[in-house]
Amino acid sequence: MYYPEEVIREVREKNDIVSVISRYVTLTRRGRNYFGLCPFHGEKTPSFSVSATDQFYHCFGCGAGGNVFTFLQNMENISFVEALQQLADEAHVTLPETEMSPQEKARLERRDRMREANRDAAIFFYTQLTRSPYAGAAREYLAGRGVSEEYLKKFGLGYAPIARNALAQYLTGKGYPETMLRDLNLVGGEDGRTYDRFFNRVMFPIFDVRGKVIAFGGRVIGKGEPKYLNSSDTELFNKRRNLYALNLAKKSRRKQALMVEGYMDVLSLHQAGFDNAVASLGTALTNEQAMLLKRYFDEVCLVYDSDAAGTNAAKRAIPILEQSGLRVRVMQVTGAKDPDEFIKANGAEAFEELISKSLDPVDFELSVSNLATVDGRVETLRTMKERLMRIEDDGERELHIRDVAERLSVNPQTLLREVEEARQTAGMQEYQEARSQLVRRRDKGMGGLEKAECQLLSLMLHLPGSRPKIGELIHEEDFQPVEGSEGDHAPASDIYRQVYRYLQSRTDREVLAADLISLSDTEQDQPRLMRICTEQIPEDRAGMEKLAAETIRTIRTVSLDQALRRAASVEELQSIVEQRKQLEHITIHF
Ligand code: GTP
Ligand code: MN
Repeated sequence: MYYPEEVIREVREKNDIVSVISRYVTLTRRGRNYFGLCPFHGEKTPSFSVSATDQFYHCFGCGAGGNVFTFLQNMENISFVEALQQLADEAHVTLPETEMSPQEKARLERRDRMREANRDAAIFFYTQLTRSPYAGAAREYLAGRGVSEEYLKKFGLGYAPIARNALAQYLTGKGYPETMLRDLNLVGGEDGRTYDRFFNRVMFPIFDVRGKVIAFGGRVIGKGEPKYLNSSDTELFNKRRNLYALNLAKKSRRKQALMVEGYMDVLSLHQAGFDNAVASLGTALTNEQAMLLKRYFDEVCLVYDSDAAGTNAAKRAIPILEQSGLRVRVMQVTGAKDPDEFIKANGAEAFEELISKSLDPVDFELSVSNLATVDGRVETLRTMKERLMRIEDDGERELHIRDVAERLSVNPQTLLREVEEARQTAGMQEYQEARSQLVRRRDKGMGGLEKAECQLLSLMLHLPGSRPKIGELIHEEDFQPVEGSEGDHAPASDIYRQVYRYLQSRTDREVLAADLISLSDTEQDQPRLMRICTEQIPEDRAGMEKLAAETIRTIRTVSLDQALRRAASVEELQSIVEQRKQLEHITIHF
């Protein structure tokens, strides 16, 4: 940790965790805490809680947890230092410049350099497309598809030359090491051979929300296989966490986003004035993408091809989008293969009309169901129940239930009751399953001693008044260093000692779980700190005192046994044996 604790604390205090997390998760207040759907795993009932008093979040489902820094780290896939910098920036706190570890500095420099390489690659492709005499076919292809000069430029389209090493040569000439180009998925090749990953393709740079080039998609010119070649995931690019053209769409004045399937659809729509169009990156829509979209839009209209694949994709996307709090409409493109073709054939106004005729998810589901037979209606009823139970707003849910009941000719009271029952069992099941999984995972590989250490430290954290008394009975050295587990080469860590020292040095001041989490940001220590913060401790004083006595006994016994083996004199031996005896009888009153 290279930044002083005070600075980290200041930045944390100036960034309320509830408001930061609210940018990503819809939170509702329940008692002293806020609840929402966990952004780190898929779930239908909220088990993600945020505490304003502790400035701490915790998911009872998947076990994720931490403070405002760890939240951003995990959400944005950035390092602690990057999260700190971002939040310091937003709160107008100036960070001391020099306090960065050499490793961290190297990592940031590497990232910057990789971003530059991607940018240079995009410029190279663009220059090829616009200037190279060999790019005639590519230019004609794009012109044939109606891409204007203006939009070609706006989307930074390019051409990857047919020579199989043009980009590699260009970028190594600019001083980028070949290994970096491989890591960026720009070049490939085995056995000492190097060749461009993209050649003779029309290139679509993929930008992140901030407008930095993070990856590429390349289309064959005309017919050929594979039609599109996309960068695989790299240090800069995770296709599950990005949306094509969101960097442009986020500036749209339209309140609703349009979610389409293809790069070319996005381009066509933007060119026709629908600058709110985005596309997922050749995969089924993910939770992360929905959450990302929610940061800029409250409503999304799904625009899917009207074939079976498109309908199924829409069906799967709806719950994902709704879970992140977006209102959803579904639009069917009729009479054309996709939005691109539709616009070319019918124009922008006709497309606008299609949007206005878009369906809400319940109507959409009914419209693609077979209601002609009893079997079809039974099947529809089943899927509709699944849908209806996920509508969070009580009034909205009831209205939809009544509507569906009428259309399927079933008794509304029966359907109302069935949906409520289904909601309850689903919630319970999911919660219990997640809960037992969490406990199993958390206790895996953790011995009784470590558990006792965590429990005692948790008690000290939550009950500051216990610290002086505990300090009389146990010392920093009694906590054991944790060995790095076999295989992962992790160094031993004295995290429990650090926590103990930290808590004891702050008897005068309140310590929040959020502060504890910043004590170490290594991958090995984070779960341990998490465990301390989330360990369940008894609510009543007698229970707490009993827990303190038991855990102190466990920890001290191990530590005294070690001392016994090291003892150098008879006096020392006797003293240790005496102390061990006394341990049997300790009682604690806070
Ligand atoms: P055009 O045929 O140029 O109009 O493409 P499109 O943008 O309409 O794409 P299409 O509807 O055929 O496919 C939707 C999206 O799926 C594309 O934008 C790509 O992201 C992805 N995709 C399509 N074909 C391939 C492929 O062969 N390989 C990979 N990896 N992705 C593909
Ligand atoms: Mn198309």
